Amino acid sequence: MSKKNILNAPLPRHIGIIMDGNGRWAKKYLMKREVGHRSGAQALKRLVKAMTADGFECLTVYAFSTENWKRDEAEVRYLMSLIHEYIQQYIDEAKKDNNRIRVIGDTSALKEGLRDKIEHLEELTQNNDGMLLNIAINYGGRDEIVRAASHLAKNGIDITESGIESHLDTAHAPPLDLVIRTSGEMRLSNFLLWQAAYAELYCTDVLWPDFKISHLYDAVAQFQKRDRRFGGR
Ligand code: IPE
Ligand code: IPE
Ligand code: MG
Repeated sequence: MSKKNILNAPLPRHIGIIMDGNGRWAKKYLMKREVGHRSGAQALKRLVKAMTADGFECLTVYAFSTENWKRDEAEVRYLMSLIHEYIQQYIDEAKKDNNRIRVIGDTSALKEGLRDKIEHLEELTQNNDGMLLNIAINYGGRDEIVRAASHLAKNGIDITESGIESHLDTAHAPPLDLVIRTSGEMRLSNFLLWQAAYAELYCTDVLWPDFKISHLYDAVAQFQKRDRRFGGR
């Protein structure tokens, strides 16, 4: 699909993407999983550039879940080094890039060097007014809700929906409109559980490293056809 197909209706303000299928992509081309992850990171760079140029407001991407620590030590190490590299590239390009970048998830479990880089990148880009890019690292929806609720409990604040919502990792972002999952799986795998309560879901068989802006337009076109009732009539 091309861009002109989505110009006549409002765009989703906040899109979440579960970037899945790097391993299967590598297998399909008889390559190591690492190559799939590296191609996945490149797909994300391309997509962010294109979405920024198109004026999308907010994108949240799932880079590493609280459950992904269960993978082989070598794969976890590779994914962390790739994330580090990606963050460094954004730091290097922060001056010419107008995106605001935030990391969501429990960063306390990350290596100190990576945490410092993340802090630096968030600070460098905090006043940018381009697209808001949230990168979910050691993120789990359940963990996020527990962290928000414990914060309220510790401070003696009543636990209410708005109280929890304002302490989620995405409190700075617009409401989630659309969740895209690649590689044919149809589950949330602990991604933005609270926020997805009334988001539209879109699954595609495309493997993440092959995902292009034209695929995003397909998802947005579908979204624009949906009738969002939010429980009303
Ligand atoms: C997504 O690709 C990347 C992460 C979960 C970090 P996968 O590595 O899950 O790829 P598949 O699902 O094995 O194909
Ligand atoms: C979800 O993908 C996590 C990320 C994309 C970072 P997984 O590959 O970990 O999910 P499952 O195991 O298929 O549910
Ligand atoms: Mg997977």
